[in-house]
Amino acid sequence: MNTEECEKIPGMIEGTEREMLFALARSLPFSAGENAVEFGCFFGRSTNCIAQGLAANPSFTGGSRFYAYDSFRCRKNGGFAPYVLSFSQQGDVLGLLRKEGDMLDFLPVFEHYLGSYIASGLVVPTRAELADSQPFAGDIALMHIDSPKYYDELKVLTFRFFPRLRQGSIVIFQDFFFHWSATLIAAVMAMADRNLIRFRASAASSLLTEVLRRPSLEDAAELELQLTNRKCVPTLIDKAIALCSAMELNQRELYLPRLTLAKLQYLWESGDHAAATAEIANYFNSGKKLNQVIVNDFMEMLSHGFSARKLYEQDHEAK
Ligand SMILES: C[S@@+](CC[C@H](N)C(=O)[O-])C[C@H]1O[C@@H](n2cnc3c(N)ncnc32)[C@H](O)[C@@H]1O
Repeated sequence: MNTEECEKIPGMIEGTEREMLFALARSLPFSAGENAVEFGCFFGRSTNCIAQGLAANPSFTGGSRFYAYDSFRCRKNGGFAPYVLSFSQQGDVLGLLRKEGDMLDFLPVFEHYLGSYIASGLVVPTRAELADSQPFAGDIALMHIDSPKYYDELKVLTFRFFPRLRQGSIVIFQDFFFHWSATLIAAVMAMADRNLIRFRASAASSLLTEVLRRPSLEDAAELELQLTNRKCVPTLIDKAIALCSAMELNQRELYLPRLTLAKLQYLWESGDHAAATAEIANYFNSGKKLNQVIVNDFMEMLSHGFSARKLYEQDHEAK
């Protein structure tokens, strides 16, 4: 991988995740007309890693495309704008940001960094809110999900895009090991329970999964029915903790405790304060240790009153 090309793009994924995305994109077999897709590109750092891999993959030929979905917009006074501004400053691309009313448009920044891949037709940028995102023609062999941290957004993908995932395809859930991802963790675990996917590996906060059979619309509807009763979320997170505890994980001591933090966050936000407190007691009683990173994550949750949903909806309105 051309590390310099990728690292000049300000972005949010770590080195191990970048290497994993590149290696997967380079080695995964694509049949004619099969595609790659990413949700949540930001300025294109993860997109670049995948694009570099696809460009070096002999099976990713003329008919295949890499679709890159993002709203490429945020509210000037919303929760995401400080990141857009500071990362633009870091990349010296502040001048490329477009201001439209109360919105900041960062598609020109993405186009600046991914220009050669867009010009060659390998990358197809697709501006859309997740709720409005529609699939392209053809099946999907590789999917990188780095936008929704909530099942309410993920379900757009399970209904519209997951039925395009062929058996043996790969789905990477970025920020699976993340304290704000409770309902996402639960949904991914529920899919594993249904033998739709299997957990294969992790890289930093990303979980790499393999599709065991093509998900159907009925599967999406059953998942929706299961998650409508949100009481199942803590139990599913417990299952995910058990499953991940038995796996080899990248930087386990930093990322595995985030699943417990996610459960704690969810319980607190749901108003089940007694269960949230019991979760902290259980953590220590079972001999688990704290480290500075976990404490920082906890303080971040504390500073937001254990809920980030309102902040998120400033940029992406619930539909
Ligand atoms: C964490 S950033 C992605 C980081 C990126 N993958 C990288 O390598 O730097 C999340 C992105 O998801 C997009 N996003 C989040 N929620 C969305 C939604 N509901 N619809 C469309 N885009 C969304 C944001 O605009 C943002 O660019």
